[in-house]
Amino acid sequence: MLVAILPGDGIGPEVTAQAKRVLDALAIPGMTYEEAPVGGAAYKAKGHPLPPETLDLAKRADAILFGAVGDPDCDSLERALRPEQAILGLRKELTLFSNLRPAKMFPELADASTLRKEVAEKIDLLIVRELNGDVYFGEKGMRQTADGLREGYDIMSYNEAEVRRIAHSAFRAARARRGLLCSVDKANVLETSQLWRDVVIEVAADYPDITLSHMYVDNAAMQLVRNPGQFDVIVTGNLFGDILSDQASMCVGSIGMLASASLDANGKGLYEPIHGSAPDIAGQGKANPLATILSAAMMLRFSLGQADAADRIEAAVAKALAGGARSADLGGTLSTSAMGDAVLAAL
Ligand code: IPM
Ligand code: MG
Repeated sequence: MLVAILPGDGIGPEVTAQAKRVLDALAIPGMTYEEAPVGGAAYKAKGHPLPPETLDLAKRADAILFGAVGDPDCDSLERALRPEQAILGLRKELTLFSNLRPAKMFPELADASTLRKEVAEKIDLLIVRELNGDVYFGEKGMRQTADGLREGYDIMSYNEAEVRRIAHSAFRAARARRGLLCSVDKANVLETSQLWRDVVIEVAADYPDITLSHMYVDNAAMQLVRNPGQFDVIVTGNLFGDILSDQASMCVGSIGMLASASLDANGKGLYEPIHGSAPDIAGQGKANPLATILSAAMMLRFSLGQADAADRIEAAVAKALAGGARSADLGGTLSTSAMGDAVLAAL
């Protein structure tokens, strides 16, 4: 089994290095690793954020462990050459349409949440975010209005096949959890959302055992801080899912804790922390590697058939936290590698 490791920019290399240490410690027979540059690092080395060799490795691999992309040095480049195009390109080229972003409160971290403890400790939800459509991939550009004003535009659209496949993914996820699915849209304003809602309702006929509800995205943002314990699985589009998942991450204490899986129809996936490249703290050993370590666990479980090894990693992270391991984002003083040490010791 081949795992592609794409560390990327900023804190990406530091956090993926700790995840790699944990994978090495498990010594799973038959696992091989190959690394390639991506994002701003790849632009600087090879002139493109997603060079053909990196895309080829991602296609050959059984799974991909991804750090983060984003580099302020690249902000003035044309959009097609910016680091973010690497992750968007991988999601599109590999048809990784289903993004699973679990947010669960580790009891030890209840004090790190900005929410009151009794609200935060009830959080155990999964955001299923569509990744291949929406305003992210619609026609976009800059133009001039008739009276000479500059105008930017990004077209939002979903077709019914795109909504249907993410809906199935979400209903199946709900079936493996508590059986509640909340579809988040803006159907009171957007045609895209009206189609989304209609199709989700059609797909629901195949899942009579799942309780489906609908919520407008503004209300969902409010409910996520008012009473996040009400949610089991949330399914939503690319843009709303991007925003709500950052919000959910802070509700459980730190964006440095949230892992994610981006899956195709056959279970191949890319695994990455939901946080970005954090250039302000890059190279200082301040980043929390747990989101990437937990992403490696999701990779073992969903793409590599190693559920036991995944359980071991998750148990080791819980044990390290219970033992008091805290990086700066969690109010502690441990460095990135010291957090890795704590997980390895628990393992
Ligand atoms: C994420 C990130 C990306 C996104 C960026 C880096 C393009 O914010 O994975 O949530 O918007 O999808
Ligand atoms: Mg995001």
